[in-house]
Amino acid sequence: MNLQRDRSAWLHGPPLVCQSQPVHPTHCRRLVLLGPPGVGKGTQAAFLSATYGACHLSTGDIFRTARQCHSNEQSPALHEAIAHMNEGRLVTDETVLEIIRERTTCLSCRGGFILDGFPRTALQAEALEAHLGYEGVSLDAVINYELPVDELIVRISGRRLCPDCKAVYHVTSRPPREEGRCNTCAAALIVREDDQPDAVAVRQRAYQESSAPLLDLYAARGMLVPVAAHGLPEDVFARTITALAVWH
Ligand code: AP5
Repeated sequence: MNLQRDRSAWLHGPPLVCQSQPVHPTHCRRLVLLGPPGVGKGTQAAFLSATYGACHLSTGDIFRTARQCHSNEQSPALHEAIAHMNEGRLVTDETVLEIIRERTTCLSCRGGFILDGFPRTALQAEALEAHLGYEGVSLDAVINYELPVDELIVRISGRRLCPDCKAVYHVTSRPPREEGRCNTCAAALIVREDDQPDAVAVRQRAYQESSAPLLDLYAARGMLVPVAAHGLPEDVFARTITALAVWH
């Protein structure tokens, strides 16, 4: 099954609306992906989205999309958020929650969602729970991808990104068919600004300080599904599906 979804309403926000055909799965998936920078959340989100037909909702992709706009088109809050991201710092909760509030239709979607990069702090987790509670739905699971830090660095240092469709590649483990070009839209691949060594160190620290505590929070609620992220992306995906099946 490959259920491609239209992410423009998520990436650009209002007034854009979702053009995807309604999905009527027997059980739509509402998943959160956690794990340190570079562990492979975005890569796995693409597999999960194609399998379950649930949109891949990445907050990092929202900021990267906004960065491509002319600075005149960016609100002061977004401008500041992009500066935070480039340096590897977390964007403030206030800005993130404002951006999420503009996109709550994506969180209310009948097709479910694969959240990648949100929530990232306890406050963001509370806001997500409040919204889902209001909608009368709940998360199915929170998947935590685990990998030793030296392997994270290898993954980040070889990452290449399509600036248009946001597809993620790696120079050795997941190269594009044509060097430097996206398989899907043929755009020239780029290196993320926050993949420079200084920003990577800041991101790892931010993860430990603000995001790692979410693991305890979701574990205490019995929602955390740990998945080892070593090996090929396809192997990690197979492990994810097995872990979800066993966990349910
Ligand atoms: P975001 O885009 O969410 O970045 P991140 O969490 O740091 O995660 P990454 O995108 O770096 O890694 P990933 O786990 O998705 O790995 P990937 O699949 O690409 O956020 C960026 C920034 O935005 C933040 O630092 C912050 O400033 C801001 N931000 C976003 N959300 C926020 C929020 N809620 N609150 C505050 N601030 C926020 O894989 C990495 C590489 O490895 C790729 O090259 C890939 O091809 C390769 N790879 C993947 N899997 C494998 C495998 N199994 N084997 C070999 N290679 C692999």
